[in-house]
Amino acid sequence: MARSIMVTGAASGFGEAIARSFAAAGDAVMLADLNEAGGRRVAHEIEAAGGKARFQHTDVADARSTQKLIDATIQWSGGIDVLVNNAGITHPPVPVETINEVEFDRIFAVNFKSVYLMATQAIPALRKRKGVIVNVASVTAEHPRWGQSVYAATKGAMISFTRALAIELAPDGVRANAVAPVASLTGMTKNTLGSADPQERRRQIEATIPLGRLGESSDIAGVVTFLASPAAAFLTGICLPIDGGRSI
Ligand SMILES: NC(=O)c1ccc[n+]([C@@H]2O[C@H](COP(=O)([O-])OP(=O)(O)OC[C@H]3O[C@@H](n4cnc5c(N)ncnc54)[C@H](O)[C@@H]3O)[C@@H](O)[C@H]2O)c1
Repeated sequence: MARSIMVTGAASGFGEAIARSFAAAGDAVMLADLNEAGGRRVAHEIEAAGGKARFQHTDVADARSTQKLIDATIQWSGGIDVLVNNAGITHPPVPVETINEVEFDRIFAVNFKSVYLMATQAIPALRKRKGVIVNVASVTAEHPRWGQSVYAATKGAMISFTRALAIELAPDGVRANAVAPVASLTGMTKNTLGSADPQERRRQIEATIPLGRLGESSDIAGVVTFLASPAAAFLTGICLPIDGGRSI
């Protein structure tokens, strides 16, 4: 039976690849993003290829917006089997004292408050289906590079929250896990790889990854779909690095 999947931040990068992977396996995928044009493009392309997809314009940091997303998903596909919290933003690599309070609040709201909102609002539906939550954190949470202070902390909060959710929801058969990708080329890394010489910066980062390359969106999509699958039925409360060995 087709499962009902919600993916936030699905208009580009990892979220797009995750949405495409679930759809290719026959699942019904609700794509959520602030980027309306990108989200509609991905949903349209999935449907044109014979898959099931819808797009809902959503600000994951806004409780009314996330509730609308959840209501629309349940109305469209009857319930929620899998929630992937992937939407996120970052700041350029800068000293912590140059990150102002407004930026701090926005990054925490988009990267972490969103996970609280989505999880708590979706819990009744997830309980009914013995569903799965997968949170896209970052290897940065435990191995920050210079200049990633506040971003790293949002991902640390996400990992801690994932473990707490796993404990609370286990009696209902709901699993919650996180993944921790290493640097990968997406829309977001225009900021994090931003430097006077992006190629040199890329070589420096690759040199810190034992497998010798950056991550690919397909690396992340493969692990997220695995964690949401019956093959991962006995995994909960973990954070799986997808990092080519960077965290060894
Ligand atoms: N790219 C990397 O190197 C890397 C590494 C580790 C973790 N991550 C994490 O992966 C996730 C996906 O990032 P990506 O690299 O694919 O970047 P991306 O910029 O391509 O994708 C992020 C998506 O989130 C959306 N988004 C941003 N704010 C939103 C909001 N308030 N509401 C709804 N959608 C919003 C953006 O529009 C975008 O489509 C993020 O959580 C990021 O922190 C990325």
